[in-house]
Amino acid sequence: MSVIDEVKQKTDIASIVSQYVTLKKAGRNLVGLCPFHDERNPSFFVYPEQQSWHCFGCNTGGDAFSFIMKKEGLDFGEALSLLAQRAGVTIPSRAGRDEEKEEKERLYKINEAAARYFHNLLLNSSEGVKARNYFQGRGFTDKTASEFQLGYSSNKWDDLKKYLQEQGYTEDELVKAGLLVESESGRIYDRFRNKLMFPILDIKGHVIGFGARVLDDSQPKYVNSPQTPAFNKSGSLYGINLAAAGIRQQDTAVIVEGYVDVITAHQNGFNNVVASMGTSVTEAQVSSLKRLTRNLVLALDADAAGEEAMLRGVSYENIIESEIRVAILPQGKDPDDVVKEDADAWRRLLSEAMPIVDYTINMIAGKLDLDTARDKSRAVKELLPVITAMNDKVRQAHYIQKLAHLVKVSERTIEAELSRLKPGPERKRVAVPAPEKATDTPRALLSNRLEEDYLTLLLQHPEYKANTENILPEYFFNSENREVFITWNKVDELARLRDALDVTLHEHLDVIASRELPSNRLDEKDADYRQRLEERYYKKLAEEIGGILAIEAAEKGSGADVAKLDEIGIEYSLHLKELYDRKSRKRLESRR
Ligand code: CTP
Ligand code: MN
Repeated sequence: MSVIDEVKQKTDIASIVSQYVTLKKAGRNLVGLCPFHDERNPSFFVYPEQQSWHCFGCNTGGDAFSFIMKKEGLDFGEALSLLAQRAGVTIPSRAGRDEEKEEKERLYKINEAAARYFHNLLLNSSEGVKARNYFQGRGFTDKTASEFQLGYSSNKWDDLKKYLQEQGYTEDELVKAGLLVESESGRIYDRFRNKLMFPILDIKGHVIGFGARVLDDSQPKYVNSPQTPAFNKSGSLYGINLAAAGIRQQDTAVIVEGYVDVITAHQNGFNNVVASMGTSVTEAQVSSLKRLTRNLVLALDADAAGEEAMLRGVSYENIIESEIRVAILPQGKDPDDVVKEDADAWRRLLSEAMPIVDYTINMIAGKLDLDTARDKSRAVKELLPVITAMNDKVRQAHYIQKLAHLVKVSERTIEAELSRLKPGPERKRVAVPAPEKATDTPRALLSNRLEEDYLTLLLQHPEYKANTENILPEYFFNSENREVFITWNKVDELARLRDALDVTLHEHLDVIASRELPSNRLDEKDADYRQRLEERYYKKLAEEIGGILAIEAAEKGSGADVAKLDEIGIEYSLHLKELYDRKSRKRLESRR
């Protein structure tokens, strides 16, 4: 059983609320003056059987957690600590979170010490000469070397290991930081040897990992730090620490592939350039840039651009809620080459960057003969999934027009195809961070199917967050789910969600984030979940109201209260009725 469940089990809502509100009996329930708004007639109810509360005056409710959070102004973790204390349950919560943080801080420190060590070797050692020659040969200045904290790793097997152990770091820690590796025979030695070192920094300036390049033409060309608690490989961008200001200033970010490309760009005054570090751009990277700008340009060679262009491009656009452009590099050239040869050519390349969807259309059209019926149909088949995936309906309409024009058929034909295709191709899933510990009883953590299905959808397909506007946090009866929902609406990346949530919720998050949902008809599912959550909420209210009215009448309670509840009750039932009407209308429509 999770700590949360244990606390829940040992907590009685009535006794918690009684510490703040004088409650009197009303049948099986309790009633009192609402602590959250001013009132003379009680409209605040506690339902011991459901361990929940609701105020009909200010229309809020929840369980013991949400009551304490609201009453004491606490976040979920704090409320949990308080309730746990009262229930006599010990939680690793705060300590656990602090431990995670401390571990990261320790890894930053280790990496920083290593970066300093490498940098010093590059600048001041005799064995660093070949690396100095190498970076000068690539045109880097000394100023650049210090700005990017470039370094050199010695050719010996345990140079760094010895140095850092002398500094008081343990072998275990150094392995965890990814600086040491263990051979199959169990020998532990330096991961980076005889390389030009590129420290990778996060936006706050922590050294989170390293890229390392050989000094000649040998293979593999690069060795990188492994994934560590401090280094999320697929979410990081090389150069972001130096580029953030430039990106904000110019309100544009340029994403390139390589370390060297970033360095050369910055050295030549293009200070808004970051690198995805060789892999294709990830959704996490795009969403981390969203806080700095909405304008992204991907500077890629034609092959890489082709890969990004299809569905992925649109999913980035949906994340950043704006158009993404691609700048196509001349055949066989890196940004590094282009910038060095001719800075104006680089400028031109960027200014001529094309919206990624237009690029996709041109790319497909270029391979086909659009005068033939067969290729027209092919073009539409290949491009419609791209257009369907667009969240921005105005831009979508624009591209429907463009496509219609291109294949010389009417827009209506295209739209007909589009609606045949909907709800569309399987959308790409956002990578879910792997649960740190395997959970042995994941089922037990799932307490509310509907809420959790909906959350799984939102976590795996963040584009549906756009539809959550009318979903009240109160629709989630389970506080863990409510907390995940509220927090997910505030952040835009799973890793960040995890960070923002109390550690006690991590396991729950991991379970709902990694569940399998059927992958088709997601639009319908989204609408269905939302409607059911809303209905369920109002239905529960109506039942509660009905029950209260009956009891009050039986016990001939104060006439004024009943009248007031009656009023509210009627209002709610009208709302309910409206929901049901909507639902049956829908059913009728779908039968037609
Ligand atoms: N990369 C990597 N591991 C490799 C090859 C490449 O991590 N074995 C990543 C690096 O971040 C590299 C980027 O992919 O910077 C681009 O690769 P590539 O174009 O091959 O290297 P360049 O950065 O252009 O390096 P250089 O100009 O020094 O050849
Ligand atoms: Mn290169």
